Amino acid sequence: MEIVPLADAEQVARLAADVVEGLVRARRGSAVLGLATGSTPLPTYRELIRRHRAGSGPSYDGVRCFTLDEYVGLPAGHPESYRATIARELTDPLGIPADRVHGPSPDPDQLATAGERYEEALRAAGGVDVQILGIGTDGHLAFNEPGSSLASLTRLKTLTEETRRDNARFFGSVAEVPRHVLTQGLGTILRARHLLLLATGAAKAAALAAAVEGPLSASCPASVLQLHPHVTVLADGSAAAGLARRDHYREVYAAKPAWQGL
Ligand code: GLP
Repeated sequence: MEIVPLADAEQVARLAADVVEGLVRARRGSAVLGLATGSTPLPTYRELIRRHRAGSGPSYDGVRCFTLDEYVGLPAGHPESYRATIARELTDPLGIPADRVHGPSPDPDQLATAGERYEEALRAAGGVDVQILGIGTDGHLAFNEPGSSLASLTRLKTLTEETRRDNARFFGSVAEVPRHVLTQGLGTILRARHLLLLATGAAKAAALAAAVEGPLSASCPASVLQLHPHVTVLADGSAAAGLARRDHYREVYAAKPAWQGL
């Protein structure tokens, strides 16, 4: 795992955008991006859009995208559905057509098979090249709340009250935040070839420290990252504040050979 403590959220966004663009260029139209929602990736998405509009970004022709999760029970087209959110915040501005952006389907009549069908779609696409991730204040990844199996696949889950309170800012009130979601499992996320975890702000410090330096445990779902061979954690100063070895991570990054990349 490579942990990169950075000065601020803008640096996190710039470096994350570099990783995404590097992959899109390298795969020349066949890149599969794993996209997260929530507030944390938004500066990265804005940076990608800024570069795209400035003409310095890569071509996104042929790029396919898979989101991590989706609320269950919202009316189709609800602005806070993750399908609508990712279209608005990233894929529409980048010109990626809707039929190349996939998410677990919350269709109420087919919920029982939604997880299996999403796993099949991911397999058929050849898997995710770079998966952008945020982390919940309770250590959740995607919507895998504490107690989630470290081997889990895409399925229906129930949100904790903490997550519903955290996400109430996107809705009118906590009561309007759905209780149920479909989410890639921790085992699904582990199949992506490169995991890029973004963490900004003091509210994430404890969860990030537990994920990166604590024991591997379903009680901290993000600790599953410790099992993956290629993880990059980009954290601003506030999110990195709880890391016991942060000075060492800084030294490692400062001494990183230029040829190595992230
Ligand atoms: C949300 C999402 C996660 C996200 C996390 C943190 O509920 N399902 O994918 O990473 O919680 O969100 P934020 O970045 O807004 O703090």
